[in-house]
Amino acid sequence: MTSRNPFDDPAFPPRAPDGGRYGEDVFRPEQPGEAERIDLGALAYDDLSLSRLRALGAGPGWRCLDIGAGTGTVSRRLLREAEVAGVLAVDRDVRFLAERPVPGLDVLQADITAPDFAPGRFDLVHARFVLMHLPEPERMVSTLAGLVAPGGVLVLSDAVDLTSDRTSTAADTPFAAAMRAMWQGLRASIGTDVSWVPSYPQLLRGAGLRAVGAELYVPPLLRGSPISRFWADTWERSRASMVATGLIDGAGIDAAIRYLDSDACAALSAGMLTVWGRKPGAAGAAPARP
Ligand SMILES: C[S@@+](CC[C@H](N)C(=O)[O-])C[C@H]1O[C@@H](n2cnc3c(N)ncnc32)[C@H](O)[C@@H]1O
Repeated sequence: MTSRNPFDDPAFPPRAPDGGRYGEDVFRPEQPGEAERIDLGALAYDDLSLSRLRALGAGPGWRCLDIGAGTGTVSRRLLREAEVAGVLAVDRDVRFLAERPVPGLDVLQADITAPDFAPGRFDLVHARFVLMHLPEPERMVSTLAGLVAPGGVLVLSDAVDLTSDRTSTAADTPFAAAMRAMWQGLRASIGTDVSWVPSYPQLLRGAGLRAVGAELYVPPLLRGSPISRFWADTWERSRASMVATGLIDGAGIDAAIRYLDSDACAALSAGMLTVWGRKPGAAGAAPARP
């Protein structure tokens, strides 16, 4: 695989040159309400994630790894609804996971970008809204594919931006203006880069996975819906980096938040692209965690 970014756009600044990271400048877990913000995203996406994971075989006997598990909603639903054998939930900051323990849920505090990150092999390796915030997506896909046991699956979900078409009237909504400033601001401040996400199918294939599939879900931006509240809260928390882009000011962000909560709102949320691939070999071969 080459490491060329097929979606390079000169209008976007490079990743954070000083190595700013998720959870430091923006989305700090100690900031009041951060768990609730993650839960709003989970409310919008968990049903789809769970049905895809179950369709891919997650069920009794499966050992699962939930990468960047956040508040652990997917981990817990895998245990409760899919009745998997166990879930190892990994996060750089595990305070939200530790607050809500359940039988079968193991928690590991780790930075998945560390060269020695090797928690074992699993029937399911799942990462949602994590890789888009990290550098070196190609290396991360390869690392995560290496944690999948023969016959198991890697499932990645990340955001795709649907507001970049500047030729359509979609570009004119307050929502689109805020989203463009948010993506650019997050890229400059903490390195978030969703431009790679549509190339995940090729990255999974390049990492040796087979039966690669993908699906896109765009949650409706209905007034008061979890996803609408999620974006409003996300903009509040990334306000400084959005304004620093020069694309929007505080009044523009306020207008976008009011627009989201109004009957006038007619816009496309970012979508969630879910991509999966299977490791060749016989299923049921996940060795116990060392
Ligand atoms: C946007 S949240 C997504 C949470 C959860 N996966 C979900 O979809 O609800 C991103 C999570 O990834 C974690 N994270 C970010 N960088 C990480 C890293 N290098 N290693 C481990 N976890 C990381 C964050 O702490 C946060 O909990």
